[in-house]
Amino acid sequence: MTQNTASDRFREWFLPIVHLSSNLISRIGVVMVTVGGVFWLYLLPAALRGEVVHPYIGILIFLGLPAVFFGGLLLIAAGVAWQKHRELRRGIYPANFPPLDFTNRDFRRLVGFVAIATCANIVIGSQLVYSGVNYMDSVTFCGRTCHTVMQPEYVTYLHSPHARVACVQCHIGPGASWFVRSKLSGVHQVFAVLFNTYPRPIPVPITNLRPARETCEQCHWPARFEGNRLVTIPHYAADAANTRTTTVLLMHIGGGNGQGGIHGAHVAAGVHIVYGADASRQKVHWVEYVNTLTGKKRLYVDDATPPQSVNLQSGRTMDCIDCHNQPSHTFHLPNEALNAALAAGSMDATLPYLKQQGVALLEAGYPSRQAAARAIPRALQRFYAAKYPALAAQKRNAIAASAAAIMRIYRENVFPSMKIGWGYYPNNLGHVNSPGCFRCHGNLHLAGQAGQVLTQDCTVCHNPLAVQSPNPAILQQLGIAGATDGAHPSP
Ligand code: HEC
Ligand code: HEC
Ligand code: HEC
Ligand code: HEC
Ligand code: HEC
Repeated sequence: MTQNTASDRFREWFLPIVHLSSNLISRIGVVMVTVGGVFWLYLLPAALRGEVVHPYIGILIFLGLPAVFFGGLLLIAAGVAWQKHRELRRGIYPANFPPLDFTNRDFRRLVGFVAIATCANIVIGSQLVYSGVNYMDSVTFCGRTCHTVMQPEYVTYLHSPHARVACVQCHIGPGASWFVRSKLSGVHQVFAVLFNTYPRPIPVPITNLRPARETCEQCHWPARFEGNRLVTIPHYAADAANTRTTTVLLMHIGGGNGQGGIHGAHVAAGVHIVYGADASRQKVHWVEYVNTLTGKKRLYVDDATPPQSVNLQSGRTMDCIDCHNQPSHTFHLPNEALNAALAAGSMDATLPYLKQQGVALLEAGYPSRQAAARAIPRALQRFYAAKYPALAAQKRNAIAASAAAIMRIYRENVFPSMKIGWGYYPNNLGHVNSPGCFRCHGNLHLAGQAGQVLTQDCTVCHNPLAVQSPNPAILQQLGIAGATDGAHPSP
């Protein structure tokens, strides 16, 4: 009995809507509802599995499609209200409605229209969604769509060892929970780009970056790192001959299989290092080392921090990017970039004072890339024309090629539109150009034991086999004199 009255009441309420919905506004609403619904159903499973990792897709799933869906519902209602108003005014609003079955013309039309709109959306959606999702996850989209914002990261990325690793593999990684978190911050980022309120340059460190061990270890497994790596670093002096010397370091890479070394000390199984620092993470105040396998536990602090004031909860757990903070966006300094270009032969090291001129040209400020591109080749030509006229005529092409290489270094490291100048982003992997390893090593001492510092022994991280030596004996012995490896990628 009660069921009957309920369905009667539903019919009473629904029949006028069926009748009134055959108007243009409601039809548009129906199309929007089916677009929103069908596309949403397509995207949702991939989103929940964490396959779709782009913030724009997140905006679409969590904001865009629901907005279309509910906007459509509103339009249907508005169309119905408007149609009723019109029919009442014209006196054509029916007193009774035919029953709700396929003899009812209005109902037939409505069902037919919804069916066609749904089918069309299923067909269109199946084509668009897949390619759209793939595109938005692609490096092209991440690197180029927000052109100015991401240009520095995209350009440096293209010249990094990770040029074939997709942005999302480091910035989001696998699994659903980080996908959702990145969605939330992604929404905010997209609005920052739309309204042009994003910071220039983008500040580092990125505080909400996923712990690197969950992303990097998809491909790099510290238990498998081992042994030593020979690193050769070319140097060219700022003299007339651009005098070449070479530094050779045997880096103690080490690993997690109890081999110690750099990775054994910080990321092996059982090791937990937590440290406290300022917002830039460049000034470390204290660091705690715990090894759950050996039971070793130590606290190191700087002079300004009383050990009892250390708050371990506020610390950051050390992971890969505390050293590898530029695995993919490596910003070089003029000196090292020119050394690499000279060593690679893209600049002619026989041109007198080329290194010195290169540093001067790169360090001179330019208002824009266009201005730099005009000024650099002209200034280099002028220098040789004034000081070495015969050579300038004879080596015209070599000078032009060297100027182009200098310009390339500028383009790959300086981004006036994002206010990124030389050395804005410090590289933590070393200690010569920025504090790097020495933020802790040599700066912090064992709590309660003044004088006993965290090691700065020159041979603990690397054997300096030769330091700026003209012709390192070790390279001759190995039969690779003059060679350079890829540790400092050529620009
Ligand atoms: C190999 C891993 C990796 C890849 C691939 C990668 N990034 Fe990064 N990215 C990082 C790390 C690590 C940081 C530094 C985080 C920090 O210092 O806090 C970073 C920082 C950034 C920053 C902040 C500014 C800066 O330079 O530090 C932006 C923006 C960025 N990445 C965008 C991108 C884009 C766009 C791509 C693809 C073209 C990409 N990333 C590819 C690991 C990666
Ligand atoms: C999707 C796989 C992948 C991910 C994720 C990844 N890498 Fe790599 N990494 C590579 C590949 C491939 C190379 C290049 C190997 C080569 O050139 O021999 C590489 C090279 C490197 C190198 C050596 C560079 C050199 O100078 O030879 C370092 C260091 C490194 N990765 C660190 C990281 C760090 C740190 C992260 C996390 C932020 C990371 N990688 C994430 C695949 C990955
Ligand atoms: C304490 C600093 C530090 C930490 C933490 C660290 N690394 Fe390294 N890593 C280094 C140094 C230094 C090198 C050698 C660089 C060179 O050759 O110039 C290196 C080299 C590498 C290489 C190249 C190995 C080879 O055989 O050439 C890879 C890959 C790498 N690290 C990945 C990682 C990953 C992944 C993590 C996190 C699990 C990590 N590192 C944590 C300092 C660190
Ligand atoms: C956040 C602080 C911190 C930074 C930055 C840091 N380390 Fe360490 N490092 C430690 C701690 C803590 C230990 C363990 C000290 C102990 O065993 O008492 C350690 C130990 C080591 C050891 C083993 C020392 C030994 O006596 O066996 C090596 C090698 C090493 N670090 C290399 C590096 C390199 C290379 C870098 C830079 C790329 C670096 N560290 C950056 C904190 C740091
Ligand atoms: C905590 C680890 C650590 C300690 C201690 C350490 N270094 Fe280094 N050193 C590094 C790393 C990492 C690099 C970067 C290697 C690279 O560029 O691939 C480096 C690079 C260098 C370079 C090459 C710089 C260049 O660009 O030519 C020299 C020279 C050097 N170290 C000398 C020393 C001397 C001298 C000491 C002793 C006072 C010392 N190091 C102590 C980790 C360390």
